[in-house]
Amino acid sequence: VPDTVWTIVVAAGSGQRFGMPKQYEELGGRRLLDWALEAAKAAGDGVVLVLPAADVPAGDPSTVAGGASRSESVRHGLAAVPGDADIVCVHDAARPFASAALFEAVVDAVRAGADGAVPGVAVTDTVKVVDGTGAVVSTPERSTLRAVQTPQAFRADVLRRAHESGREGTDDAALVEAIGGRVVVVPGDPLNRKITHPDDLAWARAQIASSR
Ligand code: CTP
Ligand code: MG
Repeated sequence: VPDTVWTIVVAAGSGQRFGMPKQYEELGGRRLLDWALEAAKAAGDGVVLVLPAADVPAGDPSTVAGGASRSESVRHGLAAVPGDADIVCVHDAARPFASAALFEAVVDAVRAGADGAVPGVAVTDTVKVVDGTGAVVSTPERSTLRAVQTPQAFRADVLRRAHESGREGTDDAALVEAIGGRVVVVPGDPLNRKITHPDDLAWARAQIASSR
């Protein structure tokens, strides 16, 4: 019996750094979030979309209201994922260029036995750990570091347990790691950039223009 795969697309942020709710900005003739939604729909058996509470349409059980943090929004999404889902992916609405191959790679790694799988790329900058005063605490060896992306895939039961703790993190893998889950990194895609600031959207528009 093949695994049932569901994806939660989180689009309930307020876009503080962008300056407005970026998920509704236009990219290539549709909303930014529609790109992530389409990739997620093609990748599995179902999708739950998490939107700001004010924007949730009535009568659509696959669209739910988010929370105050990304982790809380994922928890709300998880509550709407059917209980028979074996694998759950979590994907940022802010990443328009996640490929079908990337979804397949993280899902395959979970099928192969990992509790979670995340796409990661080698970092090019040296990264410092600093304290509250800005003093450097340590310098991790750069070759051991990966900048990670979404989609992230998980065994559904492990992701649910990780979120039951009510923990907060900037990604879901961190919560699974915190309960002792085994998370692996698969090769990420430099084009799968997160739209965070307005210049990221300008870059995404230029990508589309140059591919036409
Ligand atoms: N997100 C969410 N619910 C939140 C916060 C974030 O669903 N309470 C979603 C965002 O909509 C986005 C993804 O999580 O698709 C990644 O978050 P980020 O890039 O940080 O987006 P925002 O939180 O909207 O931006 P900012 O942090 O600048 O306010
Ligand atoms: Mg945020």
